[in-house]
Amino acid sequence: MKKPDKELIKEITDLKKKRNAVIIAHYYQRPEVQDAADLLGDSLALSRAAAETNAEVIVFCGVNFMAETASILSPDKKVIIPVRDAGCPLADTIDVKGLREMKKKHPAALVVCYVNTAAEIKAESDICCTSSNSIKVVNSLPPDKEIIFVPDKNLCDYTSSVTGRRLICWQGDCATHANIKADEIKEALKLHPSAKVMVHPECTAEVIGMADCVGSTAGMLRYAGESSAGEFIVGTEVGIIHQLKIENPFKVFYPTLEPALCPTMKLITLEKVLWSLENLSHEVKVAEDIRIKAKRSIDGMLAIG
Ligand code: 13P
Repeated sequence: MKKPDKELIKEITDLKKKRNAVIIAHYYQRPEVQDAADLLGDSLALSRAAAETNAEVIVFCGVNFMAETASILSPDKKVIIPVRDAGCPLADTIDVKGLREMKKKHPAALVVCYVNTAAEIKAESDICCTSSNSIKVVNSLPPDKEIIFVPDKNLCDYTSSVTGRRLICWQGDCATHANIKADEIKEALKLHPSAKVMVHPECTAEVIGMADCVGSTAGMLRYAGESSAGEFIVGTEVGIIHQLKIENPFKVFYPTLEPALCPTMKLITLEKVLWSLENLSHEVKVAEDIRIKAKRSIDGMLAIG
């Protein structure tokens, strides 16, 4: 029989202390997993937290590239992910062979890789970025340089439109965000005409064009908290609504008509978090030669702030 969440969270909390572990989780995780976490954040905040924690063990509740980033930044810590197969379908749209071919076609170009990539892609890139700092990162590069941007074409187009830089975009996308349709936003606005629209920059240009706020998950949380509006249409993975409600108990948040769900973000459950603390598994490690190169591109991003 399934134990109640409260009981599982108590067991996780006790074991976490014994193991000197910290649980960090992304806003797309299941609500109860978010509730068990010591720290929640967008990809940038989670990378920073992983670099700064004093804990010996990091339990990463997110997808593989996030745990890998933590391990790249904190190689002396044990980084574990409760489900080994929690991949990011967007990260899987690019491989090293494909990136090398693109680099061959544009030999003078610098490569900006979205953090939603495998360590091997980060190792082949000049600098990393997240959805919250892609504009700053691109603006930090010499104006006369060509730039390849991988792998999300929507984030690439959005970053290009804001910075005015022509970017050579890899044609990957995140199905969860790319499937949010402009018509769904229109329908939601018909039902809630005074609502503000918040969307993630992995959405299509058409959807982004309808938004009052385009931001990372943390950016949307900030916007909802600071806005005087009382209602919001949320154009990103529905997991974020849990935290939006906690931080804004008197405001109302509407998912799109077909709620955006990331299947791999939902693989981690409280039972699996407990199991991973008991077994200190699955450990995420990156080969040292790849780690050093990948760390360079992440450090470059972190230095920009
Ligand atoms: P954020 O960095 O905005 O949290 O995005 C993470 C992500 O994986 C979006 O698909």
